[in-house]
Amino acid sequence: MKAFGKASEGLRLERIKASPQWGDGAFRNQRPVLPGLRDPQAPRPTVRDLFYGGDRRVPVAPLPAVDPRDVWVRPAGTGLRATWLGHSTVLVEIGGVRILTDPVWGRRASPFRLLGPKRFQPVPVPLSALPPLDAVIVSHDHYDHLDYPTIRALLRRDPLFVTSLGVGAHLEHWGVRPERIVELDWWQSVTLPNGDLAISATPSQHFSGRWFTSRNATLWSSFVIRSPRHTVFFSGDTGLTPQYETVGRRFGPFDLVMLEVGAFHPAWGDMHLGPDNAVKALDMLGGGPFLPIHWGTFCLAMHPWDEPAERLYAAGTERGLNLMMPMLGEAVEPQRAPDGVSLAGDAQPLSDVQGGSLSWRAALSRRLDARHPAPTTGLLPWWRAATEGVASPPQPPPEPAALPDSMPWPID
Ligand SMILES: [Fe+2]
Repeated sequence: MKAFGKASEGLRLERIKASPQWGDGAFRNQRPVLPGLRDPQAPRPTVRDLFYGGDRRVPVAPLPAVDPRDVWVRPAGTGLRATWLGHSTVLVEIGGVRILTDPVWGRRASPFRLLGPKRFQPVPVPLSALPPLDAVIVSHDHYDHLDYPTIRALLRRDPLFVTSLGVGAHLEHWGVRPERIVELDWWQSVTLPNGDLAISATPSQHFSGRWFTSRNATLWSSFVIRSPRHTVFFSGDTGLTPQYETVGRRFGPFDLVMLEVGAFHPAWGDMHLGPDNAVKALDMLGGGPFLPIHWGTFCLAMHPWDEPAERLYAAGTERGLNLMMPMLGEAVEPQRAPDGVSLAGDAQPLSDVQGGSLSWRAALSRRLDARHPAPTTGLLPWWRAATEGVASPPQPPPEPAALPDSMPWPID
């Protein structure tokens, strides 16, 4: 099946085998990761939990979203603008260059049309409405980051694909011209043709594979994007790794930090951050305006769909993080706080959204006044608009009849 992709061979495979990250026939993390290893007391989810367990796994109503096209036609005033389009898909406009991360427009994070995690939230704009792209970053080959129909649809635009070692075999198999693919090992960089924008692959702690037979045959990475004025971090998928401190030292300070916060479980702490570890990761990277990704789009774990946002919102309010949580499609321009200055009091991102598209906020704000204590920051928990009418608190997944002999890995 075409969506499974293709195994590396020839020179590509030789390059893979020469990577310091390769050993015993597969890519490895700096330290071994196993489900449950870091928290053996955590309850172990079963396959049944993954697909059927837990309440409030998807919102009862669509999330608020805005159409960013009117904003995109104007250049970013500060030279750096980000538009979250759902899950880990973000359009980053930096120094006049447009870079799209982990583009997924498909209906399912799956190789199958009728099977697998289905998106509960549409992308706020069709792929055809995107402005011209200079580069596409693909962090790793999991289905919720590398989507076959989306790559096919991007072919006409002919962007430069910057990705992790081995992932290029999939892209080439699907029709991307080899000269438009740059595969990086950790700490390697590519400079875009305009000459002053560089993309670097940096470590992450995760795994890869599009089928049972292809586990860890391709590399997983985070990425740093640098223009003369701005530096941006994109996590891809990762667990908490001390390598982030090295990334922060080498590339920080960051003007924008995008970290995954959704699809987590205590027993998967090695492979996904979740909101609590994302805050720790932000610290390790040296801080910066924080835009959470990998939530609000697909149901890939057992927690309620809004738990990543709520936990992050609470942590951000308590700790005074410069938290940016734009709505889907809401283009924002982050601004780094001067050294020693917290933006906690006015953490509302600069928004370019025009017109009356934010009028829902007034209504939501009134409801929040009655039902939820007002936050101390300027950030409104807009996602609660999709939970109105759901009174039940998050429930733990039902106890399985028996624990399985082996723990299922996350599917992303
Ligand atoms: Fe993943």
